[in-house]
This record gives sequence, C-alpha cells and structure tokens, in this order.
Amino acid sequence: MKIFAVETSCDETSLALIDVKNNFKLNSNQLPKFRVLKNLVSSQIKIHAPYGGVVPNLAKREHLKNLPILFKKISGANLDDKNAKIKNFLKSIDLITVTSGPGLEPALWTGINFVLNLKNIYKQNNLTPPKIIGSNHLLGHLYSFLFDSQIKTKKISSLDIFPAIALIVSGGHTILLKVNDLLNYKKLGETLDDACGEAFDKVARMLNLGYPGGPLVEKLGNLGNPKAINFPRPMLNQKSYNFSFSGLKTSVLYYLRDHKNVLNDEKLKADVCASFEEAAFDVLIQKSKRAIKEFNAKSILLSGGVAANKLLRKKIKKMAKEEKVLFFAPPFIYNTDNAAMIAVAAYILFLKNKGFPLKARGDLNI
Ligand code: KG4
Ligand code: ZN
Repeated sequence: MKIFAVETSCDETSLALIDVKNNFKLNSNQLPKFRVLKNLVSSQIKIHAPYGGVVPNLAKREHLKNLPILFKKISGANLDDKNAKIKNFLKSIDLITVTSGPGLEPALWTGINFVLNLKNIYKQNNLTPPKIIGSNHLLGHLYSFLFDSQIKTKKISSLDIFPAIALIVSGGHTILLKVNDLLNYKKLGETLDDACGEAFDKVARMLNLGYPGGPLVEKLGNLGNPKAINFPRPMLNQKSYNFSFSGLKTSVLYYLRDHKNVLNDEKLKADVCASFEEAAFDVLIQKSKRAIKEFNAKSILLSGGVAANKLLRKKIKKMAKEEKVLFFAPPFIYNTDNAAMIAVAAYILFLKNKGFPLKARGDLNI
C-alpha cells in the first residue's frame, strides 16, 4: 500500500511517499513496517528567522510556492502534465493524506487545497482518485516511533512495547500519553501554557541566539554547566501529569534582568542554556518516569522537535534503562516536522476506518 502525504502545518513544506508492507494484520502482535520511498522537506527557517518566529501569511506564501516544486521532485511530473509519467505516479498511490491540524490555519489550507486540486488532476487524467483523508499532526509525531531502527532490525512485537508511555515535545505541544496498543491511547497530561519547544525558542531569543532556538540552545548548552543556576522545575511535585513552561521561561528572563553581564559573556550564556535544559528536562523525565511506574509501561516513546535534542534523548534513554523499559524514538530527521510521519498516522487512521475532514483545524488535539 502506497501512501502520499502532504504536511504544511507550520514552517516546513513536506511531501512524502511511503510504502506499507501488505502482510500487516491488525489483530496480530506484529507492527506495521514502513518503507519511506521519499520524504522531501523544504524548510522556511531563513524566511521567518528575521521575525523571530513563524509569520502565518509568509508561511502560506512559501507553501504555495514550494508545493508544486516538491511535487515535481517526488513524481517527476508537473501538476498540469498530461503524460504517462503523471498518470503512472497518480495510479501508483493507494491513499492520499494531508495534515488537517493542528497548526496555522492559513498554512494548513495550502496543503488541503493542494490535495483537493490533486483530486481534479486525477479526473483530468481520466483516473479515479484514491481515498483522501485528513491526518493529525500530533498523531504523526506519536507514531513516528515506528521509524525507530530497532523496530526494523530487531524482532520487536507490540507485546514488547505496549502499554507504553509517549512523550510528545514540540514547538506547539507537550503531551504525555498512555498508549495501550497501536490504535488506542489516552492523554495523561499536557502543558497548561507554553510548549517545551516554545520555551527553548523564547530563551534563545532572550540570549540573542537566533531562530529556531532549540538547536542553538542545545549547542551552546553543551559548553555550559547544568548546575550553574537552579532554575525552577514547574509542577514537578504536583500529582497531575500536566506541564508548565512559562514560569521557567520567566525565571530565565528575571535572571538575565538581574545579571546584565551574562549577555556579553559566552560562558555565562552557555551556563544559562545548560541550566535551563536541565530544569526543563528534569520535569519531562520525572513525570514520564512516574507514568511508567504507575501504568507498568513496557516502553517510552519520545517524539516531536525537541526530541531531536541529544541530551534529552540520552537522559530518557538512561531513565528507561534504570526502569527496565524499552526506549523508542525516530531517527533525527523524523523528529521535526515531516510528511512521512503524517502518512504513518494516516495509515493508523485508515486501519481504524477513521480520518479527519479535509478542513483546517488549527486547534485539533490528539
Ligand atoms: O515538531 P516540530 O518540528 O514542530 C512543531 O510541531 O511544533 O518542533 C519544533 C520545535 C521548535 O520549538 C524547536 O526549537 C524545537 O522543536 N527543537 C529543539 C531542537 N530541535 C528542534 N529543541 C531542543 N533541542 C533541539 N535540538
Ligand atoms: Zn510538529
């Protein structure tokens, strides 16, 4: 089964083509095996960087420009071609999907309108379009663990993984879930204010590091002392599985206000980055660990843009080892936004006979 996916929820335009081995059976303990045939990502970072964040209308303009270019790259044909190349490409697809949400609505609509237009292109080529379903960006992050190389190379079945605790840490969300099996999950908690990635971006801005902040805070943090400053660990001792990162961000702001020399000293800036990471990750790890214990989980699944942080991966891996549970995370390229994960989520939705309407839902949750 070949799935063609479109992702335009934020500042990456992405198209992917993935193949699912057709011997996957829903009621068995096996896991679906995916082959990513193509995963093209066109990043708009340079365009939004001068503004210190994503500008929705600029994102929309760039998606509109990038989508036909990526389509040509993935199919070898232009959208308005009427030749064998486009026909063969369209005919080879069994399911089309696009991110319905969450995300920036003007950006989401560009992807949705693109697949609606594809439907017309099938008709213009005298072909019947395959099923088209909306996918959920957060489900994409959640199921991106299926790209973990351990699943491809080791004999791992769903019995080794579930129940699992999943931690999604991105620029827009911080969510902890209990995943009972491939199709069923329950949200345990989420951030009540800023997302973890958002806090990274804001701290980077305070330190004049640039945008997006996560990788820059990580790079400088590697040179700093994580114990230099004792930033607060918001909600660490509360029973709930919710998070809050806005207080931590404000503590960094106050620290910089009270220590004006920091901004002129790379070593002190590195200490702020390392101490901020230590505080943020402490909360993520302690809450995940508590959930693992409470629900007797067999594994922890880490995903989202912040999961590209090597220190976070190392710390979660260590905690998983101590708790004697397995640790899964996708390869780095599938942590930040990409259409391959949107295709995987669509496949799971397809198995459940579900799918989201082809309408932008900026606030869609999991
Ligand atoms: O999942 P993602 O690409 O987009 C959303 O769905 O939000 O996540 C982007 C977020 C940004 O806030 C970015 O700063 C953060 O992920 N990020 C990182 C790292 N790489 C990306 N945060 C910490 N360390 C990193 N290495
Ligand atoms: Zn994302």
